[in-house]
Amino acid sequence: MIVKTAEFITSAVKPSQYPESLLPEVAFAGRSNVGKSSLINTLVNRKRLVKTSSTPGRTQLLNFFSVNDRLSLVDLPGYGYAKVPAAVRRKWGPMIETYLKGRETLKSVVLILDLRRTPGIEEKNFIDWLKLYQRTPIFVLTKADKLSKTKQKKQQVIIGETLRVNLAELILFSSKTRQGKEQVWASIERTVCNEQNEGI
Ligand code: GTP
Ligand code: MG
Repeated sequence: MIVKTAEFITSAVKPSQYPESLLPEVAFAGRSNVGKSSLINTLVNRKRLVKTSSTPGRTQLLNFFSVNDRLSLVDLPGYGYAKVPAAVRRKWGPMIETYLKGRETLKSVVLILDLRRTPGIEEKNFIDWLKLYQRTPIFVLTKADKLSKTKQKKQQVIIGETLRVNLAELILFSSKTRQGKEQVWASIERTVCNEQNEGI
C-alpha cells in the first residue's frame, strides 16, 4: 500500500457528527493503551497524525482520518481499562456500539490485542458481539518488539487457541519495528476490495 496522503477529518461522539462519507471505512478497536493510535500512525507512515500516549484513555472520541482520499480510518477509544474513570467508560460503550452497529460505510474492524496478554472475557465478548453484526475482525497482535521471536510464536499460539482463530489470521505487529505493517495493509485491502472489486 502506497500512502500518498493521510489527513484528519473530524472527531465525533454521535452519528450526526460523523463525516458524510462515501469512502469505505476501517475502524481500529482494542483495549486502552494497547496501541491503536500507534498502529494507525505506522500504517500511514506518520509519527503524530494520531495522538498517542502512555496514559491509558488518551483517545476519547471517534477520530476519522482519510487516506489517499480513497479510504477512511477511524480510531476508536479503548475499552476495559480500570484507571479510566467509570463515568467516562460508561459513555464510551454506547458511543462505540452505536458506531459499529450503524455505520453503513464500515467495511472492516481491526481488533488490536497485546501479544503479551492472553485475551479474556472482554475480548471474547467483543468478538462475539462483532460477529452478531457480521463483522469478523482483522486480528493484530501488537507490541511484538517486546518479545523474542520464539516467545512471539508461543504467544501467537496461545492467543489462537484461546480465541479459536487460525494462526494465519493473527498478524504479529509492532509499531516500533513496523513488523507486520504490510500484512495489516494487505488484510485491509482484501476486505475493502472484496466489496469494491478495485484497488484503494
Ligand atoms: P488509548 O487511546 O488510550 O486507548 O490508547 P491506544 O490504544 O491508542 O494506544 P497508543 O497508540 O496511544 O499507545 C499506548 C502506549 O503504547 C504508548 O506509550 C506507545 O508508545 C506504546 N506502544 C504502542 N504500540 C507499541 C509497540 O508496537 N511497541 C511498543 N514497544 N510500544 C508500543
Ligand atoms: Mg488512542
